[in-house]
Amino acid sequence: MLSSFEFPGGYYEMMRRDFRDLTAETDFLASYVPDGGRVLDLGCGTGTNLRELGARGLSCVGVDQSASFVDYAERAGGEGVAYVHGRAEDFTSQERFHLVYSLFMTLNYLPREQLRRTLRNAADRLLPGGHVVLEFGHLLNFVESYQQHTVAHHRGDGVLITRLVRQSLNPHAAIWRNEETLLVRDADGRVSLYDNFFDQSVLTGPEVRELLADAGLTVTAEYGGFRKEPAPGHGRGPLVIVASRTGEGVA
Ligand SMILES: C[S@@+](CC[C@H](N)C(=O)[O-])C[C@H]1O[C@@H](n2cnc3c(N)ncnc32)[C@H](O)[C@@H]1O
Repeated sequence: MLSSFEFPGGYYEMMRRDFRDLTAETDFLASYVPDGGRVLDLGCGTGTNLRELGARGLSCVGVDQSASFVDYAERAGGEGVAYVHGRAEDFTSQERFHLVYSLFMTLNYLPREQLRRTLRNAADRLLPGGHVVLEFGHLLNFVESYQQHTVAHHRGDGVLITRLVRQSLNPHAAIWRNEETLLVRDADGRVSLYDNFFDQSVLTGPEVRELLADAGLTVTAEYGGFRKEPAPGHGRGPLVIVASRTGEGVA
């Protein structure tokens, strides 16, 4: 499986703002952590969520495979936030956390067997009574957003990013491939170009729940968004799952 995300983190942050509701994400995540608690972000990107949680007094660790994004995150700093450059599936630590989370379909970037291992590791990283919060992309998200070619624009602080996206779906491998060219015009008129590509596993809801069960995690809630919207019966919208270690009886 391919994944790059090697372009300046500031541009990623700009694009992310067009897709995401950071306040809702932060409130949601923080509601699963006691004051001063510890959180682990798998695939933290540029550290957007961690900086918000750190500002609320939480102790945060983030891991991401993109050297550019981790570099950006380290420069951006953040109270009580530490970053690890590496792959989520290889992350090991003696530390235990009140919350282990992964947002924005990041676990879909892992091939299924590595995802299985990563979820087991995530369960092992939890403190007693701890939670995992995982946002998955599922079958319908991929099918509905599939377009062979798209052009999108993102603007902010005098910067214009034009994203030229080429997508393909491989139904036999259940993999969605995204190849994009980012054309950036900075505020000073300088133009630069970046290639970004990634593969994602096209997961189904039942497959995700099976992987969680295999990891020793029991689903305690499912939502259709970070404002705790109900998981829609028609299957559209994201799949936000809250789980805790099986047998702990934590709601
Ligand atoms: C769409 S971004 C989401 C980042 C962040 N979770 C957020 O919400 O902004 C996907 C991220 O997953 C990271 N990623 C992909 N595969 C990974 C892996 N195996 N281990 C760690 N990070 C990974 C990429 O580098 C990228 O930063």
